[in-house]
Amino acid sequence: MADTLDRLQKDHIQRLLTAYRELMRQHELDAIALYSGHALPHYGDDQYPEFQASGHFMHWTALLEAQHSWLVITPDAKPRLVLHAPTDFWHLTPSLPDEPWVGEFDIELVNEATAPALKGRVALIGNVEALQDGPVAVPHGEANPPALTHALDELRLYKSPYEIACLREANRLAMAGHEAAHAGFAGAGAELDIQLAYLGASRQRESHVPYDNIVGLNEHAGVLHYQHYDLNAPTGRYSLLVDAGRRFRGYCSDITRTHAGPDAPALFGRLIKAMHELKDSLVADVAPGVDYASLQLSMHRRLADILVSHDLYRGTADDCVASGATRAFCPHGVGHSLGIQVHDVAGLTAPDGTPAPAPEDHPALRLTRTLAPGMVVTIEPGLYFIPMLLEPLRHTDVPVNWPLVEQLQPCGGIRIEDNVAVTASGFDNLTPKAAI
Ligand code: GLY
Ligand code: MN
Ligand code: MN
Repeated sequence: MADTLDRLQKDHIQRLLTAYRELMRQHELDAIALYSGHALPHYGDDQYPEFQASGHFMHWTALLEAQHSWLVITPDAKPRLVLHAPTDFWHLTPSLPDEPWVGEFDIELVNEATAPALKGRVALIGNVEALQDGPVAVPHGEANPPALTHALDELRLYKSPYEIACLREANRLAMAGHEAAHAGFAGAGAELDIQLAYLGASRQRESHVPYDNIVGLNEHAGVLHYQHYDLNAPTGRYSLLVDAGRRFRGYCSDITRTHAGPDAPALFGRLIKAMHELKDSLVADVAPGVDYASLQLSMHRRLADILVSHDLYRGTADDCVASGATRAFCPHGVGHSLGIQVHDVAGLTAPDGTPAPAPEDHPALRLTRTLAPGMVVTIEPGLYFIPMLLEPLRHTDVPVNWPLVEQLQPCGGIRIEDNVAVTASGFDNLTPKAAI
């Protein structure tokens, strides 16, 4: 794979160089300078939060941890990387990876944080405002001009074959974690045990995950972005929901699996199977020309069929959608764009940069674009038993089967999530088919 990946990476850099040079011509620029960013210490402390380099910087280099560094693109010279690589006896001095992009750049390793000398009309991209009170002067240039920033986001929406290969590998590595998490659940582990099993099997430290892993047992499976890891195993074992990914060369996977425990009603297992089938049917709908927001509506229609056929809703599927019941059972979007950021850029803008917000009834939808080859999206239908959302329906005549909902409440909910590339003729599911 390495040889192929390396060749793809060279093509990816060439593609970026061509696109950036065309943008410099259109925007009459002499340089685009990408700032990696830097972390600030916790207030009154000498400790820093985890840092992640800015997305446009990582689009070229994938140097997730590079702080105080710059990448300068000009119309005619090689890209110039000014990489902050302090030599001290407290830390290991940063070094460059054994990847071909290194040969495509002029690279300067600097001991002291410094800004590059820039001439002519320059656009600065990244969090340069953060330099304002520091020892490094903000270089001259316009910071984050909106039209250019939009164009760079737009470039990131369409993944090169190299990026798709990285996303596929990020999926493969994450799936090893999901299998270990499933085994940890079977072994009656606490949330923390399952989290550690996931990290170990997917070979990553917690600070490098693309987003905080969601590891929810029982009712916690119904907290959409559940943020803790209980140290003790609960007595009842109803369910496990794991929403967790992996980075590979900066690119994120974002996979969710839900499992029934020995104490769950048999219906919960049948609902998990139905949600896998719903995910597969939505994945099969991914194709160029498809309006992604239409998949949100399809998710609700097919979720209504599941609720009716499993006796959770005692009316018609049409009424189930129209009454808003499916939105109480699934309040989030069908998915989002995926790339260097888990919720990747340009999801809610039209190609011309004007806002393309989520539909009023589906405010959590993060992508409203028409699908086109090169886009990578998640497909993540959900079905939850969230008291806060369902309670208001109790005081209406919406025919929810409340005794059944109460039986399922200890299971929290279900989400199944895969990562899918749009191809010229349809879709390519990047998430490996596994037994779980
Ligand atoms: N893991 C966050 C999401 O699925 O969007
Ligand atoms: Mn997820
Ligand atoms: Mn997601």
